[in-house]
Amino acid sequence: MSGLVLGIETSCDETAAALVDEEGHVRSSVVASQADLHARYGGVVPEIASRHHLELIDAVTADALERAGVRLDDIDTVAVTRGPGLIGALLVGVSSAKAIAATRGLPLVPVDHLHGHVVASTLGENPVEPPFLCLVASGGHTFVARVEEPAVYEVLGQTLDDAAGEAFDKGARLLGLGYPGGPAVDRLAREGDPGAFDLPRSAPGELDFSFSGLKTALLYAIRDLGDSAQSRAADLAASYQRAIVDALVSRTRTALELTGIERLAIGGGVAANSELRQAVTGLGVPVWVPPVELCTDNAAMIAGAARFLEPVEYPGYLSLDAAARL
Ligand code: KG4
Ligand code: ZN
Repeated sequence: MSGLVLGIETSCDETAAALVDEEGHVRSSVVASQADLHARYGGVVPEIASRHHLELIDAVTADALERAGVRLDDIDTVAVTRGPGLIGALLVGVSSAKAIAATRGLPLVPVDHLHGHVVASTLGENPVEPPFLCLVASGGHTFVARVEEPAVYEVLGQTLDDAAGEAFDKGARLLGLGYPGGPAVDRLAREGDPGAFDLPRSAPGELDFSFSGLKTALLYAIRDLGDSAQSRAADLAASYQRAIVDALVSRTRTALELTGIERLAIGGGVAANSELRQAVTGLGVPVWVPPVELCTDNAAMIAGAARFLEPVEYPGYLSLDAAARL
């Protein structure tokens, strides 16, 4: 695959478009977050998300083109998140990408959103080279994968229940913090003592994760504190965050030991977490930590992943469907 890639991402509540060249330089990356719109409901409302994607997608794409100083006629390939995600939200991106590509007879690359998170560190000035291990922790998924070549990733271990981001969001709700919860817990935890509460680090398997018990333990800790829970919120947040980060780091350490791979990358919204970003630097191997805007959902990682994939030529993709699960 060659040339300039326009990436489009609408799997959840971020409407995003980006331009990435074949060397992996991000020429522009625009993300319109709907988080504020969903905050009052305490989470993403799928129907509202689809409607806003529809309203925003053209403007976001135009903005990405303008910031990169290019026109649609300069694009060589269109890449789009095909799944996993909210089906109505994905459909907006897929339809828009098909329309842009088809009217110009351009090739289209359907991209797995999680592959985007896995290869986020291949973008920019200091790209990670395979073989590497990648810890992906987002709102819907948490896994450790082995990447021997950038077109594919092999999941070695994953969460058996909640994702790490989901654990952050649910914990934040129990602590009375807003949505999305991860950034709020991250901020509050800085003022607390991570050793104040002894919360469980469940180990369901050598490389698998489980976060649902941790969330329940936080619920009980808050209940036991009664009226004083409010004044201990920072300690609770710090202890809860430490438990999540410990679980992520310990499985990653095991995966490095078992595979002997000596490069680590991290990705997904939880990779924006300040404590996790710090903790992975102590694993004894070189670590690629993407800038925060490439950790949370964005279209640059989708265009980036497309560089490694086989494009579908026009008109083969006209029957392409979005997929809530891949
Ligand atoms: O990758 P992402 O943007 O969307 C999904 O693909 O799910 O991840 C969103 C998740 C949310 O659960 C959010 O709370 C979490 O990433 N997150 C964080 C931080 N920033 C975002 N979690 C912990 N600390 C953060 N600073
Ligand atoms: Zn994501």
